[in-house]
Amino acid sequence: MDEIDLAYTDTGAGPAVLLLLHGYPFDRTMWRDQIDFLSRNGFRAIAPDLGATSDKLQLVEPAIRKAEAGQTTKTMDEMARDAAALLDELKIDKAVVCGLSMGGYVAFEFLKLFPLRVSGLVLAGTRAPADNEKEKQGRRAQIEQMLAAGMAPMADATLPKLLAPRTLAEKPEVVARVQEMILRTEPMKAAAAQRGMAARRDYSADLADIDVPTLIIVGREDPIRPVADAEFMQAGIRNSLLEIIEEAAHMTNMEQPEVFNRSVLAFFEQLA
Ligand code: MLT
Repeated sequence: MDEIDLAYTDTGAGPAVLLLLHGYPFDRTMWRDQIDFLSRNGFRAIAPDLGATSDKLQLVEPAIRKAEAGQTTKTMDEMARDAAALLDELKIDKAVVCGLSMGGYVAFEFLKLFPLRVSGLVLAGTRAPADNEKEKQGRRAQIEQMLAAGMAPMADATLPKLLAPRTLAEKPEVVARVQEMILRTEPMKAAAAQRGMAARRDYSADLADIDVPTLIIVGREDPIRPVADAEFMQAGIRNSLLEIIEEAAHMTNMEQPEVFNRSVLAFFEQLA
């Protein structure tokens, strides 16, 4: 990437930097509570919007957009390179890289591509294996639906999986924020990211080579990336820590921000 065309947040002034990589189909605002908390506690938090592809696609004619959307893939590797280019631009050498779900896949790629730039890893609600055929098929079906009908059906279908029953019942503000993020995601951008996730490699073989401190976080009630996925990563990554967050599903950082933040802060303090 020659120029930085990522939108991003850069807050806080500490020497320790946390690079926050969002999940799908979300944006950097999902990290609001972490950005506030960490910057108040002496850390610098950088959170880009991954997937700059859509801005370019918006410039072209609708018919071409449709054709392009059918072909455009935003790979996990490209997202990792975009994030590294942002760190270059901000003159940051190293960061703790924290990714949730798709952001976790990007974190695996980032570590592989730029091992010397990673001082620690936080892997939340993610997993190492690649998709199987059925999962790839599911992504293809979702792409067709998003391009034909927009994001609303997808939001309705996924909210009960993204959020735990208690969050859905008692935290309407969190429900609304997640829903709004999904609805404002450009379908073509979501489609490009879906293609990128379907094409991602299997990160299982990377686990044994990870030699940076690693914190793994998972929601006890996450049906998308369940506890077993987190345990698999913990078994494969030397000296990694596992935090299972109660009363949370996939969006642990938004559903239980205090617990998530405390866990990340304790991890940071241990690194120092
Ligand atoms: C995410 O939250 O980023 C997605 O659920 C990841 C995926 O679809 O694999």
